[in-house]
Amino acid sequence: MSDPQNQSPPDAGRGQQMWGGRFAAKPSDVMQAINASIDVDKRLWRQDIDGSKAHAAMLAAQGILTAEDEAAIQAGLDAIAAEIEAGAFPFTRELEDIHLNIEARLTERIGEAGKRLHTARSRNDQVATDFKMWVIQALVEAEDAVRALQRALVEQAGAHADWVMPGFTHLQTAQPITLGHHLLAYVEMLERDWMRIAAACGHAGASGCPLGAAALAGTSYPIDRQFTAEALGFAEPMANSLDAVASRDFALEALAALAISAAHLSRLAEEIVLWTSPQFGFARLSDQWSTGSSIMPQKRNPDAAELIRAKAARIAANLNALLGVVKALPLAYAKDLQDDKALTFEAFDAFALCLAAMQGMIETITFDRAALRAAATKGYSTATDLADWLVQALNMPFREAHHVTGAVVKRAETLGIAELSALPLAEFQTIELRITAEAVARLSVEQSVASRASAGGTAPVRVRAEVERWREVLAEADADEEFE
Ligand code: ARG
Repeated sequence: MSDPQNQSPPDAGRGQQMWGGRFAAKPSDVMQAINASIDVDKRLWRQDIDGSKAHAAMLAAQGILTAEDEAAIQAGLDAIAAEIEAGAFPFTRELEDIHLNIEARLTERIGEAGKRLHTARSRNDQVATDFKMWVIQALVEAEDAVRALQRALVEQAGAHADWVMPGFTHLQTAQPITLGHHLLAYVEMLERDWMRIAAACGHAGASGCPLGAAALAGTSYPIDRQFTAEALGFAEPMANSLDAVASRDFALEALAALAISAAHLSRLAEEIVLWTSPQFGFARLSDQWSTGSSIMPQKRNPDAAELIRAKAARIAANLNALLGVVKALPLAYAKDLQDDKALTFEAFDAFALCLAAMQGMIETITFDRAALRAAATKGYSTATDLADWLVQALNMPFREAHHVTGAVVKRAETLGIAELSALPLAEFQTIELRITAEAVARLSVEQSVASRASAGGTAPVRVRAEVERWREVLAEADADEEFE
């Protein structure tokens, strides 16, 4: 590819003054295109400014910077923050990334003192610090969003504690369950997701602050890394400078937590897609959360649920891609690591969107009680209840009870009776004389779910107790948050 840029005369533009001392020619356009990360990492601006402010304060406290220079730097960085917030900052790709953009702007604004800010640090420790702080903050926000979805699910579970629906295995009708119980299953999954997200956040913080590792080996200046670590919300600095600039396991762990949670969301999303189809007819999404078809006027499509299914794949893929970036990368920093941010930001954005959309759908979804109940009675879903009665009332071995029940199901099928509780007692007794009217009464789907009151079971009494427990847990979580 011909590259006129390469032939152009040396140009000490804003881009070149940062590291261009030994270069005679500008980078090629394509070099700049592959190298520049500003379009992605401008999202780190707040962390970058906070990191620089802490670094400058430390340099001054250690006598490495004069008080006047430090004051100019602090004021300049604050002015730049205001400029970025106002959307007035002149971001440029020539300056590669957020670090050089801000530093160059600082020098433009305050002159000489701006050029002293980069003393005793490198972009390597700078970016590792900025990025870790960003991930920690994003994880805190993800925790809250998970909680919000849990709350929505718990309220729907409470409102449908005794609504009977089919429980499935192999997507075949298995046994009747309650809708509240089904929804609470996701509350449990989300609780473990929350724990993983909180753990990733905790580990990222506890692993310490990279700042002060400099390029890879530390620095000859008398810096105070404890000072900067604490100023940036860490308990301590990272102990090894190579580890500090080269490691991204905090981001990997975060993406792993997100990918697992997104997989859970995709299962609920898939169920919403099934439940709202005319074939199931179990549920209806509100107008706000349905889309129409441009050609078929009757359609109500669950697009948000479908997109959650798709985005779960993307989040998992980004985890995989970041593992690929880190895998076999020799110590310490290499530019491969710059790609960590696009992968991580995209995963967090997708995850936030998935949680918000799921919360919106769950808050406003409505269920069809009659359709759920009718489906629950299909497929002789209470056959296990008859087998259990034979065991409990007649002391029949379970294997034999299973066999007898199979014969009863066959009889009902032959007679064209779709529900065991509708089969006349006499028909049961042609197969097993000792079956009583009381046994048959237990075969309604309501009796069936009520009987499953074992710990963790689907009985409405259990569901109501669990809803109460979850309300308390989530209220406490709320209170903790306010306390923090
Ligand atoms: N933009 C870079 C990144 O995100 C900053 C670090 C650059 N360091 C370097 N040695 N080129 O990774």
